[in-house]
Amino acid sequence: MDNLRLRNLRDDDFEAFHALNSDYDVVKMVASWPYPSDPVFTRMRMNTPEAQAGLVSVIECNGQLAGTIGGVRGGLGYMLAKTFWGRGIATWAVGQKLKEAFSVHKWEIVKAGTWNDNPASAAVLLKNGFTVVGQSVGYCKARDCEVEATDYEIFRHEWLKHQTSTGTA
Ligand SMILES: CC(C)(COP(=O)(O)OP(=O)(O)OC[C@H]1O[C@@H](n2cnc3c(N)ncnc32)[C@H](O)[C@@H]1OP(=O)(O)O)[C@@H](O)C(=O)NCCC(=O)NCCS
Repeated sequence: MDNLRLRNLRDDDFEAFHALNSDYDVVKMVASWPYPSDPVFTRMRMNTPEAQAGLVSVIECNGQLAGTIGGVRGGLGYMLAKTFWGRGIATWAVGQKLKEAFSVHKWEIVKAGTWNDNPASAAVLLKNGFTVVGQSVGYCKARDCEVEATDYEIFRHEWLKHQTSTGTA
């Protein structure tokens, strides 16, 4: 059984975080990360006001940095190193970040998006109670092209209902 927790970023996360965002299979699924990776960009993202404020968290699995998840300006974004895929870790982390967004930050709505060639991330959002609200197109820096996307959202009342129906309240 994996021992999971979310925690704030630390300076000594650089190596693992940079290795994570140096994998094309990871960054092609998000919007704003460059490929090839750039250590200056990695450092910058570790030092944004949002990261420093704890809105971006490390997903720690058995004491190792497995990935990161951010809930910034009402939107959710996450990525996991490939060795940690397929173990339910992102589903757990999204659940934790939603709890933080609704219970601690008192947000009314959380939004997220997936590229249409990312069924694993779509499953993670749907399992956490998100609803599909539309289709869009966005620029993916790593691919350097526009990619078709699906937009999702979840309101506080939907999250509360989802907690009750899945017994996680
Ligand atoms: C997407 C990502 C976060 C998923 O993390 P994960 O910890 O493997 O996800 P989980 O194990 O919690 O859940 C994945 C779900 O997708 C399903 N899935 C995986 N591959 C799939 C595929 N090709 N087609 C359909 N479903 C798929 C799994 O079966 C699982 O659902 P289940 O529990 O109902 O069986 C991870 O692969 C990742 O970091 N990818 C690169 C970055 C990224 O995509 N970030 C999100 C951008 S929106």
